[in-house]
Amino acid sequence: MLHLPKMRPCILATGGCGYIGSHVVVELVAAGYQVVILDNFENSTHKTAARIKRLCKRHVTIVEGDVCDRALVEDTLLQYNVNAVIHLAGKKAVGESMADPILYFHDNLLGAIALLEAMRNCDVGRIVFSSSATVYGASEMQPLAETASTCVLNPYGRTKLMIEEMIDDVTASAQDFKAVSLRYFNPVGAHPSGQIGENPTDVPNNLFPYVSQTAAGIRDKVRVFGGDYETPDGTGVRDYIHVVDLAKGHVAALDYLFSDHAARHERINLGTGTGYSVLEVIEAFSKASGTRVAYEIVARRPGDVAVSLADATFAKTLLGWEATHNLTRMCKDHWAFQCGGKPDEKDSSFTRQLHFSENVLSGS
Ligand code: UD1
Repeated sequence: MLHLPKMRPCILATGGCGYIGSHVVVELVAAGYQVVILDNFENSTHKTAARIKRLCKRHVTIVEGDVCDRALVEDTLLQYNVNAVIHLAGKKAVGESMADPILYFHDNLLGAIALLEAMRNCDVGRIVFSSSATVYGASEMQPLAETASTCVLNPYGRTKLMIEEMIDDVTASAQDFKAVSLRYFNPVGAHPSGQIGENPTDVPNNLFPYVSQTAAGIRDKVRVFGGDYETPDGTGVRDYIHVVDLAKGHVAALDYLFSDHAARHERINLGTGTGYSVLEVIEAFSKASGTRVAYEIVARRPGDVAVSLADATFAKTLLGWEATHNLTRMCKDHWAFQCGGKPDEKDSSFTRQLHFSENVLSGS
Protein backbone atom coordinates (compact mmCIF):
# COMPACT_ATOMS: atom_id res chain seq x y z
CA MET A 1 0.00 0.00 0.00
CA LEU A 2 1.32 3.45 -0.90
CA HIS A 3 1.36 6.19 1.74
CA LEU A 4 1.28 9.17 -0.52
CA PRO A 5 0.47 12.64 0.81
CA LYS A 6 -3.00 13.95 -0.25
CA MET A 7 -1.39 16.39 -2.68
CA ARG A 8 0.96 14.97 -5.29
CA PRO A 9 4.18 14.42 -3.33
CA CYS A 10 6.89 16.98 -3.91
CA ILE A 11 10.41 15.74 -4.58
CA LEU A 12 13.58 17.78 -4.29
CA ALA A 13 16.09 16.64 -6.93
CA THR A 14 19.57 17.94 -6.12
CA GLY A 15 21.66 18.06 -9.28
CA GLY A 16 18.43 17.76 -11.25
CA CYS A 17 19.80 19.53 -14.33
CA GLY A 18 22.74 17.15 -14.76
CA TYR A 19 22.95 14.21 -17.15
CA ILE A 20 21.22 11.69 -14.92
CA GLY A 21 19.23 14.25 -12.93
CA SER A 22 17.54 15.70 -16.00
CA HIS A 23 16.25 12.25 -17.02
CA VAL A 24 15.16 11.50 -13.46
CA VAL A 25 13.16 14.74 -13.30
CA VAL A 26 11.38 14.01 -16.59
CA GLU A 27 10.39 10.52 -15.36
CA LEU A 28 9.30 11.82 -11.94
CA VAL A 29 6.99 14.36 -13.53
CA ALA A 30 5.65 11.72 -15.94
CA ALA A 31 4.91 9.52 -12.91
CA GLY A 32 2.87 12.31 -11.29
CA TYR A 33 5.35 13.73 -8.79
CA GLN A 34 5.89 17.45 -8.31
CA VAL A 35 9.54 18.36 -8.63
CA VAL A 36 11.81 21.08 -7.32
CA ILE A 37 15.35 21.07 -8.71
CA LEU A 38 18.31 22.42 -6.77
CA ASP A 39 21.32 22.83 -9.04
CA ASN A 40 24.38 25.09 -8.99
CA PHE A 41 24.89 24.80 -12.78
CA GLU A 42 28.55 23.92 -12.34
CA ASN A 43 28.20 20.86 -14.58
CA SER A 44 24.88 21.67 -16.25
CA THR A 45 23.41 24.51 -18.28
CA HIS A 46 20.39 26.77 -18.32
CA LYS A 47 19.71 25.46 -21.81
CA THR A 48 19.21 22.00 -20.31
CA ALA A 49 16.96 23.51 -17.64
CA ALA A 50 14.78 25.03 -20.36
CA ARG A 51 14.66 21.72 -22.22
CA ILE A 52 13.65 19.84 -19.06
CA LYS A 53 10.78 22.27 -18.59
CA ARG A 54 9.68 21.81 -22.18
CA LEU A 55 9.84 18.01 -21.96
CA CYS A 56 7.93 17.90 -18.66
CA LYS A 57 5.04 19.97 -20.01
CA ARG A 58 4.27 20.73 -16.37
CA HIS A 59 5.65 23.26 -13.95
CA VAL A 60 9.08 22.38 -12.56
CA THR A 61 10.64 24.76 -10.04
CA ILE A 62 14.35 25.37 -10.38
CA VAL A 63 16.31 26.81 -7.46
CA GLU A 64 19.83 27.89 -8.41
CA GLY A 65 22.21 27.18 -5.56
CA ASP A 66 24.52 24.73 -3.87
CA VAL A 67 23.54 21.70 -1.84
CA CYS A 68 26.33 22.61 0.62
CA ASP A 69 24.29 25.70 1.53
CA ARG A 70 22.22 24.19 4.36
CA ALA A 71 20.13 27.31 4.93
CA LEU A 72 19.12 27.37 1.27
CA VAL A 73 18.27 23.65 1.35
CA GLU A 74 16.13 24.17 4.47
CA ASP A 75 14.33 27.13 2.91
CA THR A 76 13.66 25.06 -0.20
CA LEU A 77 12.38 22.03 1.74
CA LEU A 78 10.00 24.22 3.76
CA GLN A 79 8.87 26.60 1.02
CA TYR A 80 7.84 23.78 -1.33
CA ASN A 81 6.62 21.29 1.31
CA VAL A 82 9.08 18.69 0.07
CA ASN A 83 8.21 15.08 0.97
CA ALA A 84 11.35 13.31 -0.24
CA VAL A 85 14.75 13.99 -1.76
CA ILE A 86 16.67 12.44 -4.64
CA HIS A 87 20.30 13.38 -4.10
CA LEU A 88 22.25 13.46 -7.36
CA ALA A 89 24.39 16.57 -6.88
CA GLY A 90 28.10 15.93 -6.65
CA LYS A 91 31.35 15.50 -8.48
CA LYS A 92 31.82 12.32 -10.51
CA ALA A 93 35.15 12.13 -12.33
CA VAL A 94 37.47 9.44 -11.00
CA GLY A 95 40.69 10.98 -12.38
CA GLU A 96 39.85 14.44 -11.06
CA SER A 97 39.13 12.94 -7.63
CA MET A 98 42.62 11.39 -7.57
CA ALA A 99 44.22 14.70 -8.52
CA ASP A 100 42.17 16.73 -6.03
CA PRO A 101 40.65 14.50 -3.33
CA ILE A 102 39.84 17.42 -1.04
CA LEU A 103 37.59 18.92 -3.70
CA TYR A 104 35.63 15.63 -3.69
CA PHE A 105 35.54 15.41 0.09
CA HIS A 106 34.36 19.01 0.21
CA ASP A 107 31.65 18.92 -2.42
CA ASN A 108 30.36 15.36 -2.05
CA LEU A 109 30.69 14.81 1.69
CA LEU A 110 29.82 18.33 2.88
CA GLY A 111 26.95 18.39 0.40
CA ALA A 112 25.54 15.16 1.85
CA ILE A 113 26.01 16.37 5.44
CA ALA A 114 24.27 19.69 4.74
CA LEU A 115 21.42 17.91 3.00
CA LEU A 116 20.91 15.27 5.71
CA GLU A 117 21.03 17.95 8.40
CA ALA A 118 18.50 20.10 6.56
CA MET A 119 16.24 17.06 6.07
CA ARG A 120 16.39 16.25 9.78
CA ASN A 121 15.69 19.88 10.74
CA CYS A 122 12.71 20.04 8.38
CA ASP A 123 11.30 16.55 9.11
CA VAL A 124 11.83 15.24 5.60
CA GLY A 125 12.53 11.54 6.11
CA ARG A 126 12.94 9.92 2.70
CA ILE A 127 15.99 9.97 0.47
CA VAL A 128 17.15 8.22 -2.69
CA PHE A 129 20.92 8.53 -2.97
CA SER A 130 22.77 8.37 -6.26
CA SER A 131 25.54 5.87 -5.50
CA SER A 132 27.70 3.85 -7.87
CA ALA A 133 28.89 0.34 -8.64
CA THR A 134 32.33 1.84 -8.13
CA VAL A 135 31.88 0.90 -4.43
CA TYR A 136 32.52 -2.75 -5.38
CA GLY A 137 36.06 -1.85 -6.45
CA ALA A 138 37.84 -4.67 -8.25
CA SER A 139 35.67 -7.49 -6.94
CA GLU A 140 36.31 -10.82 -8.65
CA MET A 141 32.74 -11.99 -7.98
CA GLN A 142 30.70 -11.45 -11.16
CA PRO A 143 27.87 -10.64 -11.50
CA LEU A 144 27.93 -8.32 -8.50
CA ALA A 145 25.12 -8.71 -6.01
CA GLU A 146 24.51 -6.05 -3.36
CA THR A 147 25.98 -8.44 -0.80
CA ALA A 148 29.39 -8.42 -2.53
CA SER A 149 32.14 -6.85 -0.48
CA THR A 150 32.97 -3.22 -1.09
CA CYS A 151 36.40 -1.79 -1.78
CA VAL A 152 37.42 1.77 -2.45
CA LEU A 153 39.85 2.43 -5.31
CA ASN A 154 39.75 6.22 -5.50
CA PRO A 155 38.47 9.31 -3.61
CA TYR A 156 35.32 9.51 -5.75
CA GLY A 157 34.41 5.94 -4.78
CA ARG A 158 35.29 6.70 -1.18
CA THR A 159 32.79 9.56 -1.07
CA LYS A 160 30.04 7.29 -2.46
CA LEU A 161 30.75 4.60 0.13
CA MET A 162 31.08 7.08 2.97
CA ILE A 163 27.75 8.70 2.12
CA GLU A 164 26.06 5.27 2.06
CA GLU A 165 27.53 4.67 5.53
CA MET A 166 26.46 8.12 6.76
CA ILE A 167 22.95 7.27 5.62
CA ASP A 168 23.17 3.99 7.61
CA ASP A 169 23.83 5.96 10.78
CA VAL A 170 21.22 8.63 10.12
CA THR A 171 18.47 6.10 9.32
CA ALA A 172 19.45 4.08 12.43
CA SER A 173 19.05 7.18 14.60
CA ALA A 174 15.53 8.09 13.51
CA GLN A 175 12.72 5.58 12.96
CA ASP A 176 10.95 7.66 10.34
CA PHE A 177 14.05 8.20 8.19
CA LYS A 178 14.18 5.78 5.22
CA ALA A 179 16.63 5.57 2.37
CA VAL A 180 17.60 3.78 -0.81
CA SER A 181 21.10 3.99 -2.25
CA LEU A 182 21.07 3.18 -5.96
CA ARG A 183 24.31 1.69 -7.22
CA TYR A 184 24.50 2.63 -10.89
CA PHE A 185 26.47 0.51 -13.32
CA ASN A 186 27.34 2.35 -16.58
CA PRO A 187 24.62 4.86 -17.51
CA VAL A 188 24.58 5.76 -21.22
CA GLY A 189 22.18 6.90 -23.92
CA ALA A 190 19.85 9.86 -23.89
CA HIS A 191 16.19 10.82 -23.84
CA PRO A 192 14.47 9.60 -27.04
CA SER A 193 13.56 13.20 -27.88
CA GLY A 194 17.27 13.94 -28.38
CA GLN A 195 16.79 17.02 -26.21
CA ILE A 196 18.71 15.98 -23.11
CA GLY A 197 21.75 13.75 -22.76
CA GLU A 198 25.41 13.79 -21.94
CA ASN A 199 27.70 16.07 -23.87
CA PRO A 200 30.96 16.67 -22.03
CA THR A 201 32.71 19.85 -23.08
CA ASP A 202 36.15 18.47 -22.15
CA VAL A 203 37.69 15.33 -23.65
CA PRO A 204 35.34 12.57 -22.43
CA ASN A 205 36.68 10.04 -19.92
CA ASN A 206 33.90 7.53 -20.47
CA LEU A 207 33.51 5.23 -23.43
CA PHE A 208 30.08 6.17 -24.81
CA PRO A 209 30.61 9.94 -25.16
CA TYR A 210 34.05 9.28 -26.64
CA VAL A 211 32.68 6.85 -29.22
CA SER A 212 29.83 9.23 -29.99
CA GLN A 213 32.17 12.20 -30.50
CA THR A 214 34.36 10.03 -32.73
CA ALA A 215 31.34 9.11 -34.85
CA ALA A 216 30.53 12.82 -35.09
CA GLY A 217 34.06 13.62 -36.31
CA ILE A 218 35.02 15.56 -33.17
CA ARG A 219 37.67 12.94 -32.24
CA ASP A 220 39.87 10.95 -34.63
CA LYS A 221 39.58 7.51 -33.10
CA VAL A 222 38.70 5.69 -29.92
CA ARG A 223 41.60 4.42 -27.87
CA VAL A 224 40.54 1.00 -26.62
CA PHE A 225 42.15 0.57 -23.22
CA GLY A 226 43.49 -2.99 -23.25
CA GLY A 227 42.98 -5.85 -25.68
CA ASP A 228 44.39 -8.56 -23.44
CA TYR A 229 41.76 -8.93 -20.72
CA GLU A 230 40.35 -12.36 -19.98
CA THR A 231 37.14 -11.61 -21.85
CA PRO A 232 35.81 -13.10 -25.11
CA ASP A 233 37.44 -10.47 -27.34
CA GLY A 234 40.09 -9.24 -24.90
CA THR A 235 38.48 -5.85 -24.23
CA GLY A 236 36.76 -4.69 -21.03
CA VAL A 237 33.16 -5.75 -20.41
CA ARG A 238 30.63 -3.45 -18.73
CA ASP A 239 26.96 -3.42 -17.83
CA TYR A 240 25.68 -0.41 -19.80
CA ILE A 241 22.25 0.82 -18.80
CA HIS A 242 20.04 3.25 -20.71
CA VAL A 243 19.68 6.47 -18.73
CA VAL A 244 15.87 6.40 -19.14
CA ASP A 245 15.76 2.92 -17.57
CA LEU A 246 18.02 4.23 -14.81
CA ALA A 247 15.72 7.23 -14.28
CA LYS A 248 12.70 4.94 -13.99
CA GLY A 249 14.61 3.01 -11.32
CA HIS A 250 14.59 6.21 -9.23
CA VAL A 251 10.82 6.50 -9.55
CA ALA A 252 10.47 2.86 -8.47
CA ALA A 253 12.77 3.50 -5.48
CA LEU A 254 10.70 6.50 -4.46
CA ASP A 255 7.43 4.58 -4.76
CA TYR A 256 9.02 1.94 -2.54
CA LEU A 257 10.01 4.56 0.07
CA PHE A 258 6.38 5.76 0.16
CA SER A 259 5.12 2.19 0.71
CA ASP A 260 4.49 0.67 4.14
CA HIS A 261 7.12 -2.03 3.68
CA ALA A 262 10.11 0.25 3.17
CA ALA A 263 13.17 -0.89 5.11
CA ARG A 264 15.54 1.51 6.85
CA HIS A 265 18.21 1.67 4.13
CA GLU A 266 18.46 -0.55 1.08
CA ARG A 267 21.34 -0.63 -1.39
CA ILE A 268 20.10 -1.58 -4.84
CA ASN A 269 22.00 -2.22 -8.08
CA LEU A 270 20.70 -0.53 -11.23
CA GLY A 271 22.07 -2.48 -14.18
CA THR A 272 20.81 -4.82 -16.87
CA GLY A 273 22.74 -7.98 -15.97
CA THR A 274 24.10 -8.12 -19.54
CA GLY A 275 27.66 -7.16 -20.40
CA TYR A 276 29.15 -5.75 -23.60
CA SER A 277 32.79 -5.40 -24.55
CA VAL A 278 34.35 -2.17 -25.79
CA LEU A 279 34.53 -3.60 -29.32
CA GLU A 280 30.85 -4.61 -29.20
CA VAL A 281 29.94 -1.05 -28.19
CA ILE A 282 32.01 0.41 -31.04
CA GLU A 283 30.36 -1.99 -33.48
CA ALA A 284 26.83 -1.22 -32.26
CA PHE A 285 27.51 2.52 -32.33
CA SER A 286 28.91 2.32 -35.84
CA LYS A 287 25.64 0.72 -36.98
CA ALA A 288 23.46 3.20 -35.10
CA SER A 289 25.31 6.22 -36.47
CA GLY A 290 25.92 4.88 -39.95
CA THR A 291 29.58 5.82 -39.45
CA ARG A 292 32.50 3.47 -39.12
CA VAL A 293 33.97 4.45 -35.75
CA ALA A 294 37.76 4.16 -35.96
CA TYR A 295 39.65 2.67 -33.05
CA GLU A 296 43.07 1.57 -31.91
CA ILE A 297 43.89 -0.87 -29.15
CA VAL A 298 46.28 0.69 -26.63
CA ALA A 299 47.55 -0.18 -23.14
CA ARG A 300 45.13 -0.86 -20.29
CA ARG A 301 43.93 2.17 -18.31
CA PRO A 302 45.25 2.01 -14.73
CA GLY A 303 42.51 1.15 -12.26
CA ASP A 304 40.23 -0.55 -14.81
CA VAL A 305 38.78 -3.99 -14.17
CA ALA A 306 38.18 -6.65 -16.84
CA VAL A 307 34.49 -7.13 -16.15
CA SER A 308 31.81 -5.27 -14.21
CA LEU A 309 28.34 -6.78 -14.33
CA ALA A 310 25.27 -6.29 -12.16
CA ASP A 311 23.20 -8.94 -10.55
CA ALA A 312 19.98 -7.00 -11.09
CA THR A 313 17.59 -9.41 -9.39
CA PHE A 314 17.18 -7.47 -6.14
CA ALA A 315 15.82 -4.40 -7.97
CA LYS A 316 13.30 -6.62 -9.71
CA THR A 317 12.21 -8.41 -6.55
CA LEU A 318 12.03 -5.37 -4.29
CA LEU A 319 11.06 -2.57 -6.67
CA GLY A 320 9.46 -4.49 -9.54
CA TRP A 321 11.88 -2.63 -11.79
CA GLU A 322 14.02 -3.95 -14.61
CA ALA A 323 15.82 -2.38 -17.54
CA THR A 324 14.12 -2.73 -20.93
CA HIS A 325 16.37 -0.91 -23.43
CA ASN A 326 19.03 -2.86 -25.35
CA LEU A 327 22.45 -1.74 -26.60
CA THR A 328 21.08 -0.78 -30.04
CA ARG A 329 18.60 1.57 -28.41
CA MET A 330 21.28 3.04 -26.14
CA CYS A 331 23.46 3.83 -29.17
CA LYS A 332 20.57 5.15 -31.25
CA ASP A 333 19.40 7.57 -28.55
CA HIS A 334 22.93 8.66 -27.68
CA TRP A 335 23.57 9.42 -31.35
CA ALA A 336 20.29 11.28 -31.83
CA PHE A 337 21.25 13.53 -28.92
CA GLN A 338 24.76 13.99 -30.31
CA CYS A 339 23.25 15.18 -33.59
CA GLY A 340 20.27 17.13 -32.27
CA GLY A 341 22.16 18.55 -29.33
CA LYS A 342 24.45 20.50 -31.61
CA PRO A 343 22.18 22.28 -34.08
CA ASP A 344 24.98 24.60 -35.16
CA GLU A 345 26.90 21.59 -36.45
CA LYS A 346 23.85 19.92 -37.92
CA ASP A 347 25.10 20.03 -41.47
CA SER A 348 24.01 17.77 -44.27
CA SER A 349 26.37 14.96 -43.24
CA PHE A 350 24.90 14.91 -39.73
CA THR A 351 21.40 14.82 -41.10
CA ARG A 352 22.37 12.12 -43.58
CA GLN A 353 23.96 10.03 -40.82
CA LEU A 354 20.91 10.38 -38.63
CA HIS A 355 18.54 9.38 -41.39
CA PHE A 356 20.80 6.46 -42.25
CA SER A 357 20.77 5.26 -38.66
CA GLU A 358 17.00 5.60 -38.49
CA ASN A 359 16.66 3.54 -41.64
CA VAL A 360 19.11 0.93 -40.42
CA LEU A 361 17.30 0.67 -37.12
CA SER A 362 13.74 0.92 -38.28
CA GLY A 363 12.02 -2.30 -37.47
CA SER A 364 14.45 -3.09 -34.62
C1 UD1 B 1 33.88 4.79 -14.96
C2 UD1 B 1 34.45 5.02 -13.60
C3 UD1 B 1 33.40 4.65 -12.56
C4 UD1 B 1 32.15 5.49 -12.79
C5 UD1 B 1 31.64 5.26 -14.21
C6 UD1 B 1 30.49 6.18 -14.54
C7 UD1 B 1 36.87 4.71 -13.85
C8 UD1 B 1 38.05 3.85 -13.57
N1 UD1 B 1 35.68 4.25 -13.45
O1 UD1 B 1 33.56 3.41 -15.08
O2 UD1 B 1 33.91 4.87 -11.28
O3 UD1 B 1 31.16 5.12 -11.86
O4 UD1 B 1 32.68 5.54 -15.16
O5 UD1 B 1 29.90 5.77 -15.75
O6 UD1 B 1 37.00 5.78 -14.43
N2 UD1 B 1 37.28 2.66 -22.42
C9 UD1 B 1 38.09 2.67 -23.54
N3 UD1 B 1 38.38 3.85 -24.11
C10 UD1 B 1 37.92 5.05 -23.62
C11 UD1 B 1 37.10 5.03 -22.47
C12 UD1 B 1 36.81 3.82 -21.90
O7 UD1 B 1 38.52 1.61 -24.00
O8 UD1 B 1 38.26 6.11 -24.19
C13 UD1 B 1 36.90 1.36 -21.83
C14 UD1 B 1 37.32 1.17 -20.38
O9 UD1 B 1 38.61 0.63 -20.30
C15 UD1 B 1 36.22 0.21 -19.89
C16 UD1 B 1 34.99 0.62 -20.69
O10 UD1 B 1 35.50 1.30 -21.84
O11 UD1 B 1 36.55 -1.12 -20.20
C17 UD1 B 1 34.06 1.54 -19.96
O12 UD1 B 1 34.79 2.65 -19.47
P1 UD1 B 1 34.06 3.93 -18.85
O13 UD1 B 1 32.96 4.38 -19.72
O14 UD1 B 1 35.12 4.94 -18.53
O15 UD1 B 1 33.38 3.38 -17.53
P2 UD1 B 1 34.04 2.59 -16.31
O16 UD1 B 1 35.52 2.62 -16.35
O17 UD1 B 1 33.40 1.26 -16.23
